[in-house]
Amino acid sequence: MGKVIGIDLGTTNSCVSVLEGTNAQGLPDVKVIANGEGARTTPSVVAFTAKGERLVGQVAKRQATTNPENTVYAVKRLMGQKFDSQAVVQQQSTAPFKIVRHENGDAWVAIQDKQLSPPEISSFVLAAMKEVAEAYLGEPVTQAVVTVPAYFDDAQRQATKDAGRIAGLDVQRILNEPTAAALAYGLDKTEHQTIAVYDLGGGTFDISILEIQKGVFSVRATGGDTHLGGEDFDTLIIDRLAEEFMAANGGVDPRKDRMALQRLREAAEKAKHELSSSLETEINIPFIASGPSGPLHLQRALKRSELEILTARLIERTLVACRAVLNDAKITVDKLGAVVLVGGMTRMPAVQRAVRELFGRDPNKGVNPDEVVSVGAAVQAAALSGEIDEVLLLDVTPLSIGVETGGGVFTRLIPRNTTVPTERSEIFTTSVDNQPFVPVHVLQGEREMAADNRSLTHFELTGIPPAPRGVPKIQVTFRIDANGILSVEAKDLGTGRVQAMSVTATSGLASTEVDRLVQEGQKHKESDELRRDLAEMRNQAETLIYTTEQAIEGYADLLGPDQLDAVRAELASLKKMLESGANLDSLRAAYSQLEGVTFQLAESMYGAT
Ligand SMILES: Nc1ncnc2c1ncn2[C@@H]1O[C@H](COP(=O)(O)OP(=O)(O)OP(=O)(O)O)[C@@H](O)[C@H]1O
Ligand SMILES: [Mg+2]
Repeated sequence: MGKVIGIDLGTTNSCVSVLEGTNAQGLPDVKVIANGEGARTTPSVVAFTAKGERLVGQVAKRQATTNPENTVYAVKRLMGQKFDSQAVVQQQSTAPFKIVRHENGDAWVAIQDKQLSPPEISSFVLAAMKEVAEAYLGEPVTQAVVTVPAYFDDAQRQATKDAGRIAGLDVQRILNEPTAAALAYGLDKTEHQTIAVYDLGGGTFDISILEIQKGVFSVRATGGDTHLGGEDFDTLIIDRLAEEFMAANGGVDPRKDRMALQRLREAAEKAKHELSSSLETEINIPFIASGPSGPLHLQRALKRSELEILTARLIERTLVACRAVLNDAKITVDKLGAVVLVGGMTRMPAVQRAVRELFGRDPNKGVNPDEVVSVGAAVQAAALSGEIDEVLLLDVTPLSIGVETGGGVFTRLIPRNTTVPTERSEIFTTSVDNQPFVPVHVLQGEREMAADNRSLTHFELTGIPPAPRGVPKIQVTFRIDANGILSVEAKDLGTGRVQAMSVTATSGLASTEVDRLVQEGQKHKESDELRRDLAEMRNQAETLIYTTEQAIEGYADLLGPDQLDAVRAELASLKKMLESGANLDSLRAAYSQLEGVTFQLAESMYGAT
């Protein structure tokens, strides 16, 4: 069995880790793998160039201001979302790329003349992380543990799993981010303790209370907001800057121009970062727009105190969720052993202060907030592949699962914070005589009316023999697996016939669609590899031409005229091929020809000296 890697697929940054072995204390030794540019996290940014090339990571982020429409970031916020959901509406106002309604009602991304699903875009990020791991390990990687916010619902988890499949990764487990963080934190802890994990990242906020005891990690309660994170802090800064700018410049709104918006976004994030260590910073965006009397510039100082006032309500929202979770877990802050900070946003002093005040203690900063989730994922991956002893993770479902009953009421079957895997059965019957089928509508959420919750699937229990109403008894079993993903099975208790309901979600990608994308990805990979090989070959050829020319210039007196002619002929032919854009095979052939004659050249030179 090959290595199983751990991937933190973040809204803003992704990170990949792998188990290297165990250390002297017998504890897992995890390596956070740096990407080709030497960075330990990779921006979750995907861009498409005019030439149809796909860029992922730092290269994609770097060209965002010049190609804003075709640069997709924070796609995690669109995973498993309906086009008209609150989350999508919100993101639409600030995203420089176009979000569209796909025919199934989901939010997709329009790039050039194509529509791409969020799982497909995420798959490009996952594929990049897979490659980072493969380059380090020197072998193909096909299996991974991928993390998601604990508060992700069924559709969002399913979408993440699909993304893995499209990237050519068999997702062994969808692991909750705070649980992964706790795993990384708690491995070397021997005493029994209850901890809180406060994770404020780029797009999501998670708060979980966990109990750790001798390799058993059990989640007591989880909560949060899948649409609260650093992006929202940036948006508040952008809005403040833009509104001031409009007031000062006769209503010119820089957010209307995609390129200006992207520049605003970068400046806002940079200022936010700087204000974590300094008390004041300068924002400077020259030529952001043009007015009636020429170009307009945006320049302004921003104080840490101003940022804190501006974003106070976002931080307060995290505290509301923390109090609710403490309440759900039936624990008071004085009983906690530690509060672990996760996510880049926890570097903001105001966030740390708020956490300290609420929990009445200094938060634990012993783990790197950007890497800890992927480290935990790698530990879980190693446990699943049998490389280390099993760790027992007892996670919970973040949202209740239930069905729609009479009058549109939501009836809970599996309440939130139930330990998974779990299953519940329910008996369904007919409501009129001789009714041949019973419709079932499954939903997820906490609201009392079905319509206010997230619809997961509609299905029909069919083939019910004629009978008076209320007589047929069909037992439906709802199962949530360790990934937090739901499956449903129905059994007619009268006939004893099991009808495995294939629960096709009302949203998401059909499995045929996923298969098609997997194949497309492989094709794309081949052409990507070809392009890379060609570029490398051209580079090698250019180097050989250069060194050969240097050699004949310096040592012409040591060589016979025939030899010189032969070398010059091969040189000319390779040069011509480079100029004409010859294909890989012909280049390679010409390269080895030239290499052959230069080797002879070298032999006679060294023979002569
Ligand atoms: N020094 C800093 N000060 C303030 N904010 C920071 C700092 N460093 C990073 N951030 C912010 O942290 C966020 C990214 O955090 P992180 O990489 O943990 O998120 P993520 O894992 O991609 O997102 P999520 O977990 O929500 O999916 C960004 O909004 C970034 O601007
Ligand atoms: Mg994160």
